[in-house]
Amino acid sequence: MTLQRLAEMKADGRPIVMVTAYDYPTARTAERAGVDMVLVGDSGAQVVLGHESTVGVTVGEMLVLAAAVRRGVTSAFVVCDLPFGSTEVSDEQAVATAVRFVKEAGADAVKLEGGGPSRLSRIRAIAEAGIAVVAHVGLTPQTAVALGGLRAQGRTAESAARVVREALAVQDAGASLLVVEAVPAEVTAVVLPQLRIPVIGIGAGPADGQVLVMHDLLGITEGKTAAFVKRYGTVGDEMVDGVRAYAREVREGVFPAAEHGYAATDEAVAAARRALEARADD
Ligand code: KIV
Repeated sequence: MTLQRLAEMKADGRPIVMVTAYDYPTARTAERAGVDMVLVGDSGAQVVLGHESTVGVTVGEMLVLAAAVRRGVTSAFVVCDLPFGSTEVSDEQAVATAVRFVKEAGADAVKLEGGGPSRLSRIRAIAEAGIAVVAHVGLTPQTAVALGGLRAQGRTAESAARVVREALAVQDAGASLLVVEAVPAEVTAVVLPQLRIPVIGIGAGPADGQVLVMHDLLGITEGKTAAFVKRYGTVGDEMVDGVRAYAREVREGVFPAAEHGYAATDEAVAAARRALEARADD
């Protein structure tokens, strides 16, 4: 998958499918399912590393996740989130971080959150360095505290105007794609016709494509998920059931059975016995 093909999909009105992945098995799952784009989201901080929020995840941790995903994906377009703190200091810092994700993890593009003035400068700098940028407006979890928590954006006049302004501004700054998160569908619909770049929605109504967190859609995430999540599986329960069944069989002596081991020749068993006897004679 290439940026050009994604642009063609937008032009043809063919929906773009994006899903998150954080390691080799989830990357293989996405690839085998035939998605168009894989996002190594910093949501991995929560769903695979167990952090409370996305803020704490480091560049080093994200690079390990991203490289594992890259090894599992051959056809989908791989986007990596630049974690909080890795772009905030300066354009130079942002470019250096983006370069690491391309060189060390094989990212096709990097994603950064926000559409304010300093974010636009970072987008411009990374794009000028020749790295494709996916922008992200609406709910931006890295700065959720400043937004008043993990809540939908664009629901008041001021917030809706800001979403529209930022969506247009990141496009002008050189973003190749845009993720819009947790925004009323009506607000997305206002700005969508003005955007030449593909727009991927998450809790933002119809757009050129959709993205969901894999662990949410498969039902691996425990507890409550965001209102915009649709569950397509109960994989978490199946994982627990499988491990429970294994534990029960080990405790009951049912596992391992003969077919789970290796056959030995009579000579090998006799030699093992002789080795034991020789040791006893010493
Ligand atoms: O980190 C992530 O998974 C994301 C998506 C929710 C868009 O940014």
